[in-house]
Amino acid sequence: ADSAYNEQYRLQAHWSPKAKWTNDPNGLILHNGTYHLFYQHYPDSTVWGPMHWGHATSKDLVTWKQQPIALYPDSLGYIFSGSIVADEKNTSGLGEGGKTPLVAIFTHHDPKGEKSGSSTYQNQSIAYSLDEGQTWTKYANNPVLKNPGIKDFRDPKVFWYAPQNKWLMSLATKDRITFYSSANLKNWKKESEFGEKLGGHGGVWECPDLISLKLNGKQYWVLLVSINPGGPNGGSATQYFVGNFDGNKFTPLDSQTRWIDYGPDDYAGVTFGGTGDRKIFLGWMGNWLYANQVPTKNWRNAMTIPRELSLLSNKGRVFLASTPVKELGNLAMQTEKVDGNQLTPGADVFQVIKQSPAQFTLHFTTPQLRDYKLVLANDAGEELVIGYDAAKTRYYIDRSKAGDNSFSKQFAGVAYAPRISSALNSDLKLVVDASSIELFADGGLSNLTSVFFPKAPYTHLKVEAKDMKVENMEVSPLKSIWK
Ligand code: FRU
Repeated sequence: ADSAYNEQYRLQAHWSPKAKWTNDPNGLILHNGTYHLFYQHYPDSTVWGPMHWGHATSKDLVTWKQQPIALYPDSLGYIFSGSIVADEKNTSGLGEGGKTPLVAIFTHHDPKGEKSGSSTYQNQSIAYSLDEGQTWTKYANNPVLKNPGIKDFRDPKVFWYAPQNKWLMSLATKDRITFYSSANLKNWKKESEFGEKLGGHGGVWECPDLISLKLNGKQYWVLLVSINPGGPNGGSATQYFVGNFDGNKFTPLDSQTRWIDYGPDDYAGVTFGGTGDRKIFLGWMGNWLYANQVPTKNWRNAMTIPRELSLLSNKGRVFLASTPVKELGNLAMQTEKVDGNQLTPGADVFQVIKQSPAQFTLHFTTPQLRDYKLVLANDAGEELVIGYDAAKTRYYIDRSKAGDNSFSKQFAGVAYAPRISSALNSDLKLVVDASSIELFADGGLSNLTSVFFPKAPYTHLKVEAKDMKVENMEVSPLKSIWK
């Protein structure tokens, strides 16, 4: 094993850069059997700086291979977030000799323009690759979509809208999403704008993604919009809207703001292109409140576990559910089923995780969901508390005593997610790694992702559930993806 992956806090079941800084996932695409993860990267430091696109590839969404840096800053600026499409019909004319070009659409952020007070320093550009993303050529006539005078004008997410034979771009434009279309990825026309009266406006909108999903045979469109600050637990978070899209305009079904993950550490997530009806979401496991200060040494920040998205109907409304991709199961070394009778209050039911990450699934059968508490503890006296508060109908993760939180005043505390489901039974899935926890409740309707920095690995789990029955708990220790 590479010692770079043995450092304290190093995640073992999640992708993180071998060294230096990362934020958003970019250019997510499945192409010819390979999943590509490009990512916001500063190769010279562990804090944010001139942005590049780093690159990693995977065959199974869980084990990743580091690739050479894909895009470097240039005279037009830093390479901010964006997406990649496979231009099968060579609409762009960038293909050669019958090869399908991969086309990256990204934001050029000009730091000089920003400094000089200009309002047009963010523009959309393209680059293409004819060798499966290994090497990239920037288009000679960049930018392809010029800034009309909106400071925050970024993060293009593009897909092929087949009913009208055109490319569709969602773009974050201050605190709105603007849709553009194009026949060739080079000339873009404004279609419409969304968000004036809806959603949170406590911060700037970033990293949109418009996807279609079916529920009981009916097609819906879901618009993901990251917002910073203004998240439900402070700082960065990702809201979503469920509605319809006609190639020109997105119309939400209702005016409720929903959150794909209520936790503090799931931001800027978008979906992979090229996966057909399957929608796979990947987020950045960080928060701009303290991302530059978290106490890792040689690397900073990581991605969430890739999540499968689906629609669920609850009390007549449509929600987006997310759960870890089934491929995570490939890492399971074994699966132990612990009977509910063993989960007596306070009993230390589990000492298997040791140094390895693990996935837990708890099943509760109860006429009514009551308070429960799961306490992850280590031998250094630290604990991470996960639970459900029945009186307030909300799940929570308390990281205030979970490890080092001296690096930022904004870090310690409790994060809450309202229970959305009205089902009598409930289930809870947890993915616990060396310095992160992801909670998926009720089939992924109420989620919380949180990072933490313990002195020693968590090796104990106590379950306290006095007034309700835990049917059973499945525990799967997960292999390290780096070994
Ligand atoms: C979101 C974001 C994007 C931007 C990128 C810069 O986290 O602020 O809007 O493109 O990060 O690194």
